[in-house]
Amino acid sequence: MATNFPLDRFREIQTPFYYYDMELLKATLNEINVCCNGMPYKVHYAVKANANNNILQCIQSSGLGVDCVSGGEVEAAVKAGFDGKKIVFAGVGKTDSEINYALDTDILCFNVESVPELEVINELAARKGKIADVAFRVNPNVDAHTHKYITTGLNENKFGINIEQLPDVLNLAANLKHVHVIGLHFHIGSQITDMEPFVRLCEKINNLQAEVSKNGVELKIINVGGGLGVDYDNPDGNPIPVFKEYFEVFKKHLYLRDGQEVHFELGRSVVAQCGSLITRVTYVKTGTVKRFVITDAGMTDLIRPALYQAHHKIENISSDEKDTSVYDIVGPICESSDCFGENELLPITRRGDLLALRTAGAYGEIMASQYNLRRLPGVLYSE
Ligand code: LLP
Repeated sequence: MATNFPLDRFREIQTPFYYYDMELLKATLNEINVCCNGMPYKVHYAVKANANNNILQCIQSSGLGVDCVSGGEVEAAVKAGFDGKKIVFAGVGKTDSEINYALDTDILCFNVESVPELEVINELAARKGKIADVAFRVNPNVDAHTHKYITTGLNENKFGINIEQLPDVLNLAANLKHVHVIGLHFHIGSQITDMEPFVRLCEKINNLQAEVSKNGVELKIINVGGGLGVDYDNPDGNPIPVFKEYFEVFKKHLYLRDGQEVHFELGRSVVAQCGSLITRVTYVKTGTVKRFVITDAGMTDLIRPALYQAHHKIENISSDEKDTSVYDIVGPICESSDCFGENELLPITRRGDLLALRTAGAYGEIMASQYNLRRLPGVLYSE
């Protein structure tokens, strides 16, 4: 299932661009469906990872739902053909117009992050004569052991409602006529490759459910969020993430009541490996102690290395040189953080060569910016 790059097509179009291997995306979606078959599991793809319309359409045809965090994402999902009942809407700062739009779209559920938000949803739903289904996002205080910018389940984060406050919040909700609590929502962080934090999450949820059910609250949905990581070092060795192992954790450790569904919000693990950023070498510059490969892609096209010190595997896909050399791979942006890799071993690389930055399908294209007044990266699909 390793990605093959169609170099002839690449030579005809302007770089930099994202290349999506749609066969790999389909195989990934198929694996998710196989793992969830026969289980009360629903996967809502986290649109924030990649909102490209072709990608969304492909995900829609596979039967998954979507997790959105803005009105714009809900709109993108509707445009790609998702039914309202396949859409959940999360986020700490939903505006009135976003809530109204989601109410008009008859979405499945609002993931609510605070009491003031709950009250606003209740008021706006009342004006439309509707009852909004909601799930409370609870902060489980589980350490995901991942980068601090993408750890979200600890107490000091801005997300969710503290676990201790939940009983009061549930009582309050019971008195609001235009919201109906159908579930609890959790998310502990992203790029989690060790299954242990997910086990801890299940334990927290089991305890919380025991607590909540004492008060007679019935929950149809337990939403465990997203976060499954991918192999950035070896994309061809592990093109499809370890979904089986991941879903097994929940099968084994999460205690469900009769009729309960588990919802998952996977983003990165669905789309990361199918995407690569293709860039052309503009110059090779020899300094006093280093050799620099300067590419036409920069941090504006793929910000993850600059923002999270992330590393994407870099390959020279057009060279047949046998000899190698060590380079720093840098972009053209006026920031020192605009560096994709230091001391990278590549075949001898020359002006005009094409490089692929792998595992860039998630949080790549969608986070691109026009800083330095650059054009946004282009897009090419395998079919
Ligand atoms: N659900 C919630 C509530 C989330 O906040 C997120 C991601 C997801 C689901 C999807 O998580 P995933 O399955 O993709 O790990 N830009 C960063 C990642 C930010 C993740 C934010 N929340 C990066 O490039 O690493």
